Amino acid sequence: MRQKLVMGNWKLNGTKESVNTLVNALLAPVNAATNVEVAVCAPAIFIGTVEALAKGSALQYGSEDCDVHTSGAFTGENSPVMIKEFGCKYAIVGHSERREYHNETNEVVAAKYEAAQAAGLIPVLCIGESLAQFEAGETADVVKTQLKAVIDKCGIKSFEKAVIAYEPIWAIGTGKTATPEIAQNVHAQIRAFLASFDADVAAKVQVLYGGSCNAKTAPELFKQPDIDGGLVGGASLKPADFAAIIEAAK
Ligand code: G3P
Repeated sequence: MRQKLVMGNWKLNGTKESVNTLVNALLAPVNAATNVEVAVCAPAIFIGTVEALAKGSALQYGSEDCDVHTSGAFTGENSPVMIKEFGCKYAIVGHSERREYHNETNEVVAAKYEAAQAAGLIPVLCIGESLAQFEAGETADVVKTQLKAVIDKCGIKSFEKAVIAYEPIWAIGTGKTATPEIAQNVHAQIRAFLASFDADVAAKVQVLYGGSCNAKTAPELFKQPDIDGGLVGGASLKPADFAAIIEAAK
């Protein structure tokens, strides 16, 4: 009953030319994948370009982050209202790289999630544990704490208009994809935790897997009952690889 969603996160990559080439190459596979939602999240400076290129196609797009403020004296930030004005559907919030390099706490992430929803964007809430936490068996506690911060601020019903991305940090950009069993197990725990607040919301929310999700690993991951697609980094920059991941979600 949940639709599969394949989302690219370009991170800090791209040129005017590469964005053009990439989006143009994706339009046909995206338009053909009628039972899969597909989106790309681009650096803010390229969102207007993506908007123009994706016009009239099934390709959705979003930002990789957003500020908590709608406007004001916040040099260098991108407001969710501005992001929405450029036709974005999604805003990633709480990516582990933002948590690590920009000191974003669970409270800051919850505020960004709230601001994104207030602007009419669908926040893609990234959660996941470090290698040390994984090895210490703390994964479930970490993801529950990350989710609880958002539930406390925005309420469980807010997940009716949100996407969750489980991204184990040890799998991001390392080529060490979580096995389908490990990922499914965590996704099931995420859903069970949400169900302890509201079973209906838990059953409906899309939970994506991210972390070295690629053309080879996507097919088995996407067969798991609680994995509703992928948040894809490196492989989303290669049109053939990203198209193969979309194919795996069909
Ligand atoms: O947000 C996607 C990401 O963190 C995963 O990156 O390169 O491992 O697919 P990658």
